[in-house]
Amino acid sequence: MSSILPPSTRVWWNQPLDRVEGTWIAIALIWCLAMFFMMPYWHIFGKQNLSNEAYRITAEAYSKKTQEMVDKFTVRTETELKVPVVHPPAGSDVYMIARLWQWWPILELEKGQAYRLHLSSMDYMHSFSLQPENLNIQVVPGYEGVYTVTPTRAGKYSVVCNEFCGIGHHTMVSNLYVVEKGQGSTNDDSAKDNGNSEHKNERGEK
Ligand code: CUA
Repeated sequence: MSSILPPSTRVWWNQPLDRVEGTWIAIALIWCLAMFFMMPYWHIFGKQNLSNEAYRITAEAYSKKTQEMVDKFTVRTETELKVPVVHPPAGSDVYMIARLWQWWPILELEKGQAYRLHLSSMDYMHSFSLQPENLNIQVVPGYEGVYTVTPTRAGKYSVVCNEFCGIGHHTMVSNLYVVEKGQGSTNDDSAKDNGNSEHKNERGEK
């Protein structure tokens, strides 16, 4: 029988299931169920799926909260755009704004401390991708995502936008610093950085 010619027996669907066919259906079903139950399992034991909270918020309210943190805890600025680098107290709420085409501000966190990382977009959809970690979080306008994170390695990370957001998408890159516990940041020559160094992965310099 082929799909071009009509079946030789018109009522073909009454034929008993072939054993091979039945076996494959069973294998596929078992595999589907395995993957289905891996989703909650991996969330609890896999150490890579984030437990997030999300709240409705306006761009104005979110940028106000971010500005308050920046006003209090800025330790230096970077690039010619004078992006503030913020070192908030260990364990506090930290805020990042995603907008066309910038991450703002730059966070400096302490290793081994849990932070509540807030992310929201001022305009369109962006995505917070932390390199070289395997972390990717969608950043949505109108919503404030809150993620409890504990940095485990000190160094300089890159933040990349991973959601196509227009003509400047590829320039939407930034840094995130993790310093050793209790170590504050003081002014150093990174304020002279030009934008180019942002693209490099410089983890491990500490
Ligand atoms: Cu923001 Cu792509």
